[in-house]
Amino acid sequence: MEFPETNNKLITTLSFLLCMLSLTYASKNCDFPAIFNFGDSNSDTGGLAAAFSPPNSPFGETFFHMPAGRYSDGRLIIDFIAKSFSLPYLSAYLNSLGANFKHGANFATAASTIQIPTSIVPNGGYSPFYLDVQYEQFLQFISRSQIIREKGAMFAESVPERDYFEKALYTFDIGQNDLGAGFSGNLSVEEVNATVPDIVNSFSANVKKIYNLGARSFWIHNTGPLGCLAYIFESFPLAEKDSAGCAKAYNEVAQHFNLNLKESVAQLRKDLPLAVFTYVDIYSVKYSLFSEPEKHGFELPLVVCCGYGGKYNFSSNVRCGDTVAANGTQIVVGSCDRPSVRVNWDGVHYTEAANKFIFDQISTGAFSDPPIPLKMACHNTTH
Ligand SMILES: *[C@@H]1O[C@H](CO)[C@@H](O)[C@H](O)[C@H]1NC(C)=O
Ligand SMILES: *[C@@H]1O[C@H](CO)[C@@H](O)[C@H](O)[C@H]1NC(C)=O
Ligand SMILES: *[C@@H]1O[C@H](CO)[C@@H](O)[C@H](O)[C@H]1NC(C)=O
Ligand SMILES: *[C@@H]1O[C@H](CO)[C@@H](O)[C@H](O)[C@H]1NC(C)=O
Repeated sequence: MEFPETNNKLITTLSFLLCMLSLTYASKNCDFPAIFNFGDSNSDTGGLAAAFSPPNSPFGETFFHMPAGRYSDGRLIIDFIAKSFSLPYLSAYLNSLGANFKHGANFATAASTIQIPTSIVPNGGYSPFYLDVQYEQFLQFISRSQIIREKGAMFAESVPERDYFEKALYTFDIGQNDLGAGFSGNLSVEEVNATVPDIVNSFSANVKKIYNLGARSFWIHNTGPLGCLAYIFESFPLAEKDSAGCAKAYNEVAQHFNLNLKESVAQLRKDLPLAVFTYVDIYSVKYSLFSEPEKHGFELPLVVCCGYGGKYNFSSNVRCGDTVAANGTQIVVGSCDRPSVRVNWDGVHYTEAANKFIFDQISTGAFSDPPIPLKMACHNTTH
């Protein structure tokens, strides 16, 4: 039987429309009602500050005009991520004053590691809230927040709705301190390098546990080039430098970590087909700030903006915000003149300007595997 001419046209038009519809669906922006973040100081919005002592002025001065629990002069990448979805900046889970968790919670604390740390604050350098603990806190957060919701109006407004957990974006930025702890714990570069598979396995195990609690959209940052940061230069002054002035071997270990992480994310994608995993190459974007700063509007990327002493304006004994006696007078270690063109804020952490630059680059998807923009990180494009 033959279709009349007009029907053929109709069918073609219809199938064209259907095709457009599914394309539109696949490219529709995600409607994340909440963000749950896990990590270290790269994404801590006040956790360590609430648990122990907060950073002093001039931390926070660029955007918040006061210390805001963040290790930067202003906002972090996670703040720009939240803002891009018109969600409020994330409250730290550990913050008991003025926090609101309606649209997510931040379990990251500065100095957190993936694996259990060997020394913790105040007797050592690392946070007790390492990734396994952050997972335990999230587990409790889910059940307790739902109990609190049932108490009614005022309480319900401070916690997520039940279905937010499945619809939320889950973000991760952790690993730098596992490598740093290895380097400062008398392990050789090769020995630290050899610990990478175990570290990444612990990471992956936590992601699986978080998935089992209902999480589906994962946005995973790799680790940055820690060999470009002043705290590494100070500890390892003899380290061989590359053309950007970064400590080569330390960055190679970071790259080895990233390769392992990327492979393990690929494995998670296979093991957990209902979830969407985006691996984000933060390393390359951060490294470009050191290798071609002028191109991106930055200067003196290796030199610390808020620090004290030496070639890199950094000393681990006299940190940003500290007071130091010099030549008989008290000097407060304050900000450089133009943090807006600087990369390294305090020797370990990035300026708000650098964080904004990194966010602008990664949100496009150009540094992601698969290469989909942040706004579409809920869509499964790999199968
Ligand atoms: C590293 O070695 C030095 C000298 O051998 C020692 O003084 C220091 O306590 C060691 N540090 C750690 C974290 O083991
Ligand atoms: C780290 O280990 C990997 C795999 O064994 C090796 O290919 C790489 O060269 C090592 N890197 C360093 C800096 O030791
Ligand atoms: C202390 O005085 C010396 C000599 O006048 C000077 O070179 C140095 O920069 C001063 N240090 C500080 C921190 O002002
Ligand atoms: C070094 O840090 C001090 C604060 O102690 C700051 O005033 C100065 O501008 C910094 N130097 C550079 C080159 O950024």
